[in-house]
Amino acid sequence: MHPKELITKYLQFFEKKGHTIIPSASLIPLNDASVLFNTAGMQPLAPYFLGEKHPEGPQLVNIQKCLRTVDFENIGDNTHNTFFFMLGNWSLGAYFKKDSIAMSFEFLTSKKWLNLPLDKLAFTVYKGDAKIEADEAAARYWESHGVSRKRIAFVGKDNFWSAGETGPCGPSTEIFYWSGKGDAPAEFDAEDETWVEIWNNVFMAYNKDSDGNLSNLPAKNVDTGMGFERTFTTIMGKESAYETALFIPVIEKIEKLSHKKYEESKKEMRIMADHIRAAVFVLGDANYVVPSNVDRGYILRRLIRRAIRYGKMLGIEGSFTSQLATTTIKIYDDIFPELQENKKRIQEELQKEETKFALTLEKGLREFEKMAARADVISGKDAFLLFQSYGFPLEMTQELALEQNITVDEVIFKEEYTKHQKLSRTAAGGKFKGGLADNSEETVRLHTATHLLNEALRRVVSKDIQQRGSNITPERLRFDFNFDRKLTSEEVKAVEDEVNRVIKKGLPVKREELSFEEAKLLGAQMEFGVKYGEKVSVYFVGDYSKEFCGGPHVKNTKEIGKFKIVKEKSSAAGVRRIKAVVQ
Ligand code: SER
Repeated sequence: MHPKELITKYLQFFEKKGHTIIPSASLIPLNDASVLFNTAGMQPLAPYFLGEKHPEGPQLVNIQKCLRTVDFENIGDNTHNTFFFMLGNWSLGAYFKKDSIAMSFEFLTSKKWLNLPLDKLAFTVYKGDAKIEADEAAARYWESHGVSRKRIAFVGKDNFWSAGETGPCGPSTEIFYWSGKGDAPAEFDAEDETWVEIWNNVFMAYNKDSDGNLSNLPAKNVDTGMGFERTFTTIMGKESAYETALFIPVIEKIEKLSHKKYEESKKEMRIMADHIRAAVFVLGDANYVVPSNVDRGYILRRLIRRAIRYGKMLGIEGSFTSQLATTTIKIYDDIFPELQENKKRIQEELQKEETKFALTLEKGLREFEKMAARADVISGKDAFLLFQSYGFPLEMTQELALEQNITVDEVIFKEEYTKHQKLSRTAAGGKFKGGLADNSEETVRLHTATHLLNEALRRVVSKDIQQRGSNITPERLRFDFNFDRKLTSEEVKAVEDEVNRVIKKGLPVKREELSFEEAKLLGAQMEFGVKYGEKVSVYFVGDYSKEFCGGPHVKNTKEIGKFKIVKEKSSAAGVRRIKAVVQ
């Protein structure tokens, strides 16, 4: 099948069912300050879920350009992409669960459409919570189409979907495809990653306010999102989208340029192909941005420079990003004509960025090697030097460090960065969303939530727990800590409850400058392996937590909102990783 065929089929099927085809919105929303890039097909439609009338009617379908940097570290695996397409069909009060499930089922299994074997499909439905009952209705609708109960799992958090901390939301039912070789097991295990999520149908009936209260939306809506790359890969019977027509020409081009084989350099080639594709769509968009050190431009810069570094690791000589862009454009330009129209700009901007970075990359790498040889931690000052003089985004230094099993002192780096911004006064209104000194409201709330989580883990699970790393974006927090087994779901819930209990108390958050010794005597938490200076800044959350940190934080825990753990998994031997959001 040609990739375009899947798109055409999807649009045609839903058009036949009374939907109007609408164009993909821009990848870069100009009227929505809450996000840097469109992360889901429903995002541009949010006002219509809240009750506004859509000019094209109550049943819509499209393919939407999306970009998510939340799963940055997963890029290179079989199922994640930074940039991706989401196929979506929507009901603005027109149909609900029963019809939505019937249409998804027909599209996936009918001979005329995708003709996927029912035997390879499985489904999750919402298991319910204190306010919303378990979605027995959705389970029964799947059963009415011949799905076995054994292939339906009732799941918690993952099956309640909301785009942001407030706004339209609801329970969902997710559709999974068995990607393994041979027969799928009779019983569905939602934790087994061989089952790949391909489609998410959200029953958007609620609106969430900033206190986390749910109220009914004016109508019961449906928002669905089908992962285009994953579904196409499934249909083609491949392991990963990189091994389909969506990426093969680019991978082949990289093989040629590097004189290496994909089989031996999968990770590098996948990251390059993924990041260049994302850059092509950002630069080719009507609301395009160019590489810079702030906001969207910083994310773009990070993507391009990471691709360049991987290219150099493969031994590619001379510049190559513009060539890879040309190949990428050819794959998609019949579906997205803006790529052809803006081809010159895409190529030139990539070339400019590559020329700039080529001047410093090698020297910077040599500098990094010297720093890494000196200590187990790259100091904040050194990381800042790499940023300032060699153009290394912090995340690149962190990745380099990780490859050598050492860490980067992020706290001091950020202090250095902020200090420098103050000196040069180029802070452009203090806006660094998604960038370095990302002081967006979301990030600040998540930052304080991270301190509470750190303390709650010690109080609820084990007093020996210590932070091993953390990373915060406006969308979520990620926290690594030492612990040698998976947390039970009861423990996860208890930690979550503990954090929410403290948030509700409305504790004040205060910063103090202390000498390192004083802070240590007070028992302030510090990150394992990080070297601190003589004077340190310590943040106190009431009398609940004290922690070495450069900030910034909320003034009162009440500002955080509702805290929710969305994932708990292994990160390295003896290290667990939690991802959490605030709503
Ligand atoms: N909004 C949901 C998602 O992103 C379904 O479209 O998964």
